[in-house]
Amino acid sequence: MKAVVEERGLRLKLPATSANLGPGFDAAGMAMSMHLTVEAHRAPTWQIHATGRDAALVGSLENNLIVETFKSVLEYAGIKAPALRLTIHNEIPLGMGCGSSAAALCAGVALADHFGGLHLGDHGIVTEASVREGHPDNVAACWLGGFTVSAMTERGVEVATFPGDSTWEMLLAVQPTSLATKKARALLPEQYSKPDTIFNVQRVALLVSAFAQKRLDLLRSAMEDRMHQPYRQDACPLLKTLLPLTTEPQIAGVALSGAGPSVLVVLQTGTTLLEAETRIVALAGPDVEVLPVRIGGGTERVVLSK
Ligand code: HSE
Repeated sequence: MKAVVEERGLRLKLPATSANLGPGFDAAGMAMSMHLTVEAHRAPTWQIHATGRDAALVGSLENNLIVETFKSVLEYAGIKAPALRLTIHNEIPLGMGCGSSAAALCAGVALADHFGGLHLGDHGIVTEASVREGHPDNVAACWLGGFTVSAMTERGVEVATFPGDSTWEMLLAVQPTSLATKKARALLPEQYSKPDTIFNVQRVALLVSAFAQKRLDLLRSAMEDRMHQPYRQDACPLLKTLLPLTTEPQIAGVALSGAGPSVLVVLQTGTTLLEAETRIVALAGPDVEVLPVRIGGGTERVVLSK
């Protein structure tokens, strides 16, 4: 096994993501203005100092997805993983369909790339993290930012991205209990009918156009889905509660965020965050947490001087 030579530290700022956006199951995603920040330096032994949301989990050395991914990518490359001192600040809700695992995977792969001098490039990093996640939608949006569409192909993950409209106001409704993506995926059927397939193909085409052409007016239909949301709504009670908002004039569109249980609500122009939040709380009750988000950029990487 080779030893690493990179002595300089690395700072990463990785966005939360909302995948699927209704009909774009395993294909569409969006970076959001909430982040996981990781600063890493070489150290004699492993240390993590974490602050922010779920700091105890994020800062645990056991079963830490960033650390495990870092070690495993380097091991595969035949490089002995060095110990690191990680300083982490987390704003992303864990297990809520906001891309926390994609951000952790991207962080682990990017740290391995940096300290191992792997030169994976964007394509290599997105592919490596997506293969580990099992689907590319969150990872692609996390790494590249904006609105992304992605596909697993024989040539790795192919991605297209564009910035979207950063003036669109959105609210993420988060419930108190999390849902594991594995469980949420197990709820889906093996096969879909021809009408449901056509329904989703039509809407995912509208979804891409809505984000590309900044057409809020398309979102109501463009965020409808028959591929995963109907099967997940019992496990994601907020979806059932908030989906009727799509018929209200103040709201442009509603979708499950990723595999859930959080729900993304896009506001119509002129609706204030307070008006929309009041409506969400009226429907969902006081236990719902409502976070304002906008479409954001991808992962920022800064090599530190030491
Ligand atoms: N496309 C994935 C799913 C996203 O819905 O299972 C998981 O965050």
